Parts: sequence; structure tokens; C-alpha cells
Amino acid sequence: MLSLFIHVEQAGLFLLLLFSLIAANKAAKLIYSHAERELHRKARKLRFWIVGLTIWAAAAVGSAIALAAAAHPVFWLDRLLIHAPLALISISSLWLLAWPRLRMLLLRTSAATEQKLDTARRRHATDPALVAPFKLTALLAAGNVYFVLSPPVPFNLFEAAMPITTLLVLGTLLWMHQSGRNGAAAASESATEYRPWTRRVRMTGIAAAACAVLSVPILLAMDNSKLPGRLSMAEGAAEYGMTRDENGKRVKAAPLLRNHVHGALPAAGADKDAVPVSELSGPKEGTADRRFELTAKKAQVQLSSGKVIDAWTYNGKAPGPELRVREGELIEVKLRNEDIEDGVTLHWHGLDVPNAEDGVTGATQEAVMPGESYTYRFIAEQAGTFWYHSHQHSKEAVEKGLFGALVVEPAETEKAATAAITESAASEDIVVLTHIWDGAGTAVGGHDTLIRKAIQPGATVKLRLVNTDNWVRRAYTLTGASFKVTAIDGTDLHNPGELKNVRLELTTGGRYDVAFTMPDHPVYLSVDGDRERGLLMSADGEGDVPITMEPSQSFDPLHYGEAAPAPVGADSRFDREFTMILDNRLAFYNGTPALYDTINGKVFPETPMFMVKEGELVKATIINRSAVDHPMHLHGHHMLVLSRNGEQATGSPWWSDTLDVAPGDVYEVTFLANNPGLWMDHCHNLVHAAAGMTMHLMYEGVTSPFQIGDESHNHPE
Ligand code: C2O
Ligand code: CU
Repeated sequence: MLSLFIHVEQAGLFLLLLFSLIAANKAAKLIYSHAERELHRKARKLRFWIVGLTIWAAAAVGSAIALAAAAHPVFWLDRLLIHAPLALISISSLWLLAWPRLRMLLLRTSAATEQKLDTARRRHATDPALVAPFKLTALLAAGNVYFVLSPPVPFNLFEAAMPITTLLVLGTLLWMHQSGRNGAAAASESATEYRPWTRRVRMTGIAAAACAVLSVPILLAMDNSKLPGRLSMAEGAAEYGMTRDENGKRVKAAPLLRNHVHGALPAAGADKDAVPVSELSGPKEGTADRRFELTAKKAQVQLSSGKVIDAWTYNGKAPGPELRVREGELIEVKLRNEDIEDGVTLHWHGLDVPNAEDGVTGATQEAVMPGESYTYRFIAEQAGTFWYHSHQHSKEAVEKGLFGALVVEPAETEKAATAAITESAASEDIVVLTHIWDGAGTAVGGHDTLIRKAIQPGATVKLRLVNTDNWVRRAYTLTGASFKVTAIDGTDLHNPGELKNVRLELTTGGRYDVAFTMPDHPVYLSVDGDRERGLLMSADGEGDVPITMEPSQSFDPLHYGEAAPAPVGADSRFDREFTMILDNRLAFYNGTPALYDTINGKVFPETPMFMVKEGELVKATIINRSAVDHPMHLHGHHMLVLSRNGEQATGSPWWSDTLDVAPGDVYEVTFLANNPGLWMDHCHNLVHAAAGMTMHLMYEGVTSPFQIGDESHNHPE
């Protein structure tokens, strides 16, 4: 419903612009009528144009009002306070000024006279109060289209003041121009000659002049947006959010004193106690419980269909090797880069590791260039399904294969307890890592054909679904067994219920763990409803893919499972509150203009840097005003979903690290700031992230010795 209103509003404004341009042109040409008969006919038609324009404006204004009645203010403040008044002003001028004059004109002219226009008719046909409203409508509609493409978000009348003033000045000029024409029409003795070429030349001249004037701020903005060769992420646009005062009133939070000044260089000595992120590492000492070596290199990888792809790999495999560790173990991973010229890292997506182990170039480490290596050491503190990927030129790196599954199995004690219950039954634990390979399409790992698996009836099966792709929300359907979603984003759910005929839609970067008991007939997991690319499980691994019906319902965690005590909840006292508005706007990013996806109206590096202090409980409201999904991924923390679109989350506590925020959605989430550092927070549609849809969370008293930009080799996205 919400997106319907938004679309109707935008369509109304675009159509209003298109048709008002035509109508304005027609009104301006009334004077060129050869005879009274023609003038009469044209005037009559113009009245229909007024009715038509009113319909488009009404669609836009009506939708704005409907949104105001139904949605969060972020969705309608600009629509109701800018778009609607501009549209209403122009439409009223048409009805109050132009319409009565058109009526007069019709009364005073005859539809049957072939006589040339006399002075009175010529004056009437150029009357500014008749013609200018049409032009004004076109002008204000153009203004509205500008505000649609470049919305003042978060809403701020000040940002809109400049363009509105420009519109007012232009409107006055239009009126003056039309008065001039009116005077000329009265003074001249004969009918005004229609000289199309003169008119066209004049129009082109005006357009060229307008372009020349506009190009100055545009070129300046373009130049301004060029990313500097070196940029410290610790020096972002600090934002402190809101807090409550003693009386519980929402007030602006005071700046945290121990952070750096925006724009300053990493001030050596500015905060002598500031901790560099490189010191926020995992245990440096001690023997690792588990060691891995991953070598990044280019390789040709053969998929199950026989197709060969040019991949970027870890250890020659794409996806990279599946890493399995146990909760509580000290993990050591040595990364070597053989020949990936762009550089590589390892980011443990979803695992809340110490900051220095997070693997983000320019934020927590330098890119590992060919011939170099880097060692990560951390304790795997959460059991669950995660994945790892390079966080240097992430979009390209992930697309080409620099990723793999990371499974943290529960600590021995828990394992022993569960084993006692399911002792007799075998159990299967299968990672389903889906990916689109360039030239080969969707695959499960390296399988772009059907996977067959023999599983004993009665066995407990756990499927760990991981979506590694950009853009798409992947749909997984399990046919042949009822199942439970036992974990989301690496966090177990509390008493999840039995599901059947429900599609599992997983956002990019997200994970679902699915569990079921193997029946004595085949069970099929389809990926996007495909009968050839999926996982067929049966007693002997043989048999046909069961007929699958795409379920109409899709899994929704908001009320799934049973409530359980969580350390925080909707009525906790939050130390700090932030708002993140996801939208798009016509902007420049690194010198290139496009309709960019924005956070609070900005693209990186203008996006806010949310400042927190260790120990604070933080609440964030994430609002998607745009027309596409944005899976928001916060590093180093898990967010507890409190509510969606005003509806409280009532099921099992739903902790997420990659939250799919669909168009029109308003999520309230909370997280505990208990992992000091500099943490990326970005859209995991890596195409968006690479175009600036990224920001970061910064702890007070933390600094980063690293920089991003061309001169540093570091390009986290
Ligand atoms: Cu999976 Cu910042 O990334
Ligand atoms: Cu996005």
C-alpha cells in the first residue's frame, strides 16, 4: 500500500510536468491564432488541459495525504510540505486566474468568425493572468521533479529553501515576460506572426543559458565528490544521536568529548589515550586450537556441469574451503595473497570478533597485497553459521569467489547433551552456500547441477543456508518434510515452531539454519524454484525431484518461535538513539553522477559516522524510503529486532547482523556497544556499498592508523 502511494505520487508529479509543458506551450501560442475562430477553438481546448493537469496534481496531493495518514513522517514530510503546496499553488493559479479568463475569451470570441485578431483579442490572448499560470505550473512541476530526484532527507526545510527561492524568482520572471508580450501585442497594429524558427532559436538560447548557469554548481559538486587519495575513516561526519534527559524527554546527545574533530588529520597526540584499532586484537599469545592457511589466488574452477570459470579463490577453490571450528576455540588463520593485484583480506561475516581481526581494509588493516600475508587470531565466541569473504573491493572479490562458509559448532558440553537425546539417529550437517557465477548462473557452492545426497530416514538434518549474492533475495523451498528454522544469522531461535509450505527468503549476506527429520521419501531443497539446481535428499540418493509447489507464504521471523528472556527489549532504557534513512537521490560519487542509494541523504564519505561509547545500549530506527531492498549489515555486533512498522517483535528474540529492510519498512533495532572499534555498517548488496551506501560505527577513544583511497591501496568496498 505504502509503495503504491509513493509510486502514484511520483507518477502524478512526472505526468504533471510532462503535460504542463505541453499545455504551457499551447497557452503561449494562443496569440499566433490566424483568426478568431482558431483562438476560440484553442481556448476551449485549454480548459480541458486545466482539468487534465488537475487530475495529475490531485493524484500526487491525494497520495501525499494518504501517506501522511498512514505512514511514518519520513515517508511524507517532504511530500506534504513541499510537493503538495507547489502542486496546489500552480493548480489554484490555473483555476483562479486562467480559467475565468479563458471563459471570458470564449464568450467574447466567436467560433465562426474568420476575422483576424483585433487588439482586444490579442491583449486577451497574451494576458499574463491567462498564460503565466500554465508556465508556472510547468515550472513548479519541474521543481517538484527536482525534489523527487533529490529529496531533502532527513527532512529539512532549510535544504529546500534555496531551490524554492529560485522557483519564486523564475516564476516572477515568467510573469514579467508575459506582461511584456502583452504590452507588445497591444501596441502592434497587426496580428502577431508565428515564426516557428525564431521561436525555436529563442527557446534553444534560453535553454543553453539555463544549462550554463546550472552547470556551475553541478561541476563544483562533481569535483567536490571526488574521493581524496587518502582518507581516514576515523575522521567521518560524527553524529551522536539522541538521548533522553532526566525527565525522559528526547534530546540531542552531547558530543562525546574524546573523539576527533571532523576534517582534522588523525591528530597524533590529540587524544593521547586513544586506542588504535590495531591494538583491539584477539589473543596474541597462546597456541591456537585450530589453524588454517588460506592462499588467495586466481584459478580456473570447474563447476559440476563442466563449465569452467575464471575465479578468484582461496586455496584454488571457489567457494573457498569450508572452515569448521568449535565454539570457544582459539582460531588462527594465515592469509597469503599469491596474485590478486587488488589485494585481499578475510572478513568473518556475522562473527563478532575483536576489531583488529575484522578484516576491513582501511578500517582495521592494510590490504594484503600480492606476496604479503596476514594472520588473524580470535576466539570463536558464538556457535552458528557464518561466512567469510574478502573485504577489499568486496563487490568484485565476492562475485569472483573470494568467500567461503564458516561454521562454529557448539562447545563440547552442549554437544554432548544434545547427542544424548539423538544418540540413535545419525545426523547430517550441510552447508548450502548459494552463489551466482559469472557465465554459469546460480549454483550451490560449485554445483550448478542437481546435488544428490543419501540420507538415512530418521536422521536429523541441518541445512545451513547462506546467500552470497548481490541484489537478490534468494528463495529456498523445502518440499517433502516439515521443518524448523532453528537459527538466523548465526543465532539460535527459542522454541521455533514447525513450518510447512513456507518459502524461505534470505537476504544477501544472511543465514538461516533449517532442521528437519529425514522421512522415508525424498526431500528436495529448491533454490528459486529451480528443479535442476538444488539439493535432493533420499535414502539412497536416487529418485526423482518431488513435484514442488511454490508456497505463497514466505517465512517471517517477527512472530516466530517463543519469547525468551533477552538482556534488552523494547522497554529498555537506551543510552543513544540513531535514525538511518535509506533512500536514493541524484548525486555524485567520486565524480560520477547517478541516482545513488543514500544513508540519511548522503553517499560515502558524507554519510554519518555514528558515535558510541563502550557499554551503551543503542537503539537504531532504520527506514527504507527507496524502492529496493537494502540488507543492512553491521559489523562486530548483533542487532535485536524490536519492531517492524510499529508491530512489536513477539516471537523468539530475533538477532540479526544482516537485516533486510524492504521498501517502506521501518525497523527498530537495538544493540549493545560492547565491542570497541571502528565498525563498518553498510548495505550488503555490495553493488550499493561500492557506490557509497556505507557508513560506520565509531567508539569513543578509538582511532585508526589506516586510511582508504587510491594512494593507500585500501578500498573496503
Ligand atoms: Cu559481509 Cu562488510 O561485509
Ligand atoms: Cu542497498
